[in-house]
Amino acid sequence: SPSDPDLVERARAAKEKLGDKVFVLGHHYQRDEVIQFADVTGDSFKLARDAAARPQAEYIVFCGVHFMAESADILTGDDQKVVLPDLAAGCSMADMATAEQVAECWDVLTEAGVAEQVVPVSYMNSSADIKAFTGKHGGTICTSSNAKRALDWAFQQGEKVLFLPDQHLGRNTAVRDMGMSLEDCVVYNPHKPNGGLTAEELRGAKMILWRGHCSVHGRFSLDSVEEVRERIPGVNVLVHPECRHEVVAAADHVGSTEYIIKTLEAAPAGSKWAIGTELNLVRRLANRFASEDKEIVFLDRTVCFCSTMNRIDLPHLVWALESLAEGNLVNRIEVDKETEAFAKLALERMLALP
Ligand code: 13P
Ligand code: SF4
Repeated sequence: SPSDPDLVERARAAKEKLGDKVFVLGHHYQRDEVIQFADVTGDSFKLARDAAARPQAEYIVFCGVHFMAESADILTGDDQKVVLPDLAAGCSMADMATAEQVAECWDVLTEAGVAEQVVPVSYMNSSADIKAFTGKHGGTICTSSNAKRALDWAFQQGEKVLFLPDQHLGRNTAVRDMGMSLEDCVVYNPHKPNGGLTAEELRGAKMILWRGHCSVHGRFSLDSVEEVRERIPGVNVLVHPECRHEVVAAADHVGSTEYIIKTLEAAPAGSKWAIGTELNLVRRLANRFASEDKEIVFLDRTVCFCSTMNRIDLPHLVWALESLAEGNLVNRIEVDKETEAFAKLALERMLALP
């Protein structure tokens, strides 16, 4: 069983044996049984920034999903090896934009005569190939905690943004934080010829949103917001910007996982909160703040865990740490050199955002 004291002891012993040779990063959506072994926890931005914080660590064990481990590999030294405890821990949103589809999209934009005006902005939740495309075409990466700053920067470089691959984060940031209208945004569907858009529509748009979404956050609905407001009078609704636009528009607060945690830390005793993000994090926060008399509920009880984040469990972590302690490098995530160079350009633009 995951809480098996024997496994806890084995993870502790392997980590102790590795000492400074290992650095364990944990995303906030990871299980408690895994998070307890993280040297650093954070949202995607903090983990990207901190990945290079221990240059002396030979191994970086990334408890999160594939695109995060790739980004850590891109941002760390060649002699540091990034390990993902379960290679099946992907992200369905990142999979919604492939390199071929994005190259085809760029051809469509070129045909329509708008490509020179377009700056790509790619959400961290994308493959290294997409990050490399972004770097090559003068764009930047963003996360949910700096999307506005990334768009401000991009609109200083060009007149239009191609936002990949999360249409919701792109739309929510444009409309909620940048004062654009829904009509300024068009959605490019990679499964339709020309993205399902006319050249005229492309020429009229400011934000060209890729048709991707998060399968977890996409399940929160306006009904769930209305229902919780009725059930818990005075409740504050706090959601992640990967939620659909109508959910974000109806919420009281919107932000990244790190923002959600900070907001609850600063909340007064007696306050009530409904949280629209992944369940491991919401449960951890509900337990943590129960003693401070902050009532924290899950925005929609029918939504569940991110199944790929959840693939990293204690047995996988124990296996990875014990293998490394025995000198066996397992599950290494390594981005090829050419992709890495362009992807790094895009990631460094993000890290340099004001
Ligand atoms: P943040 O931790 O950056 O808010 O991202 C959430 C997420 O969905 C990561 O996959
Ligand atoms: Fe991907 Fe959504 Fe899971 Fe985040 S929560 S890793 S965006 S599927």
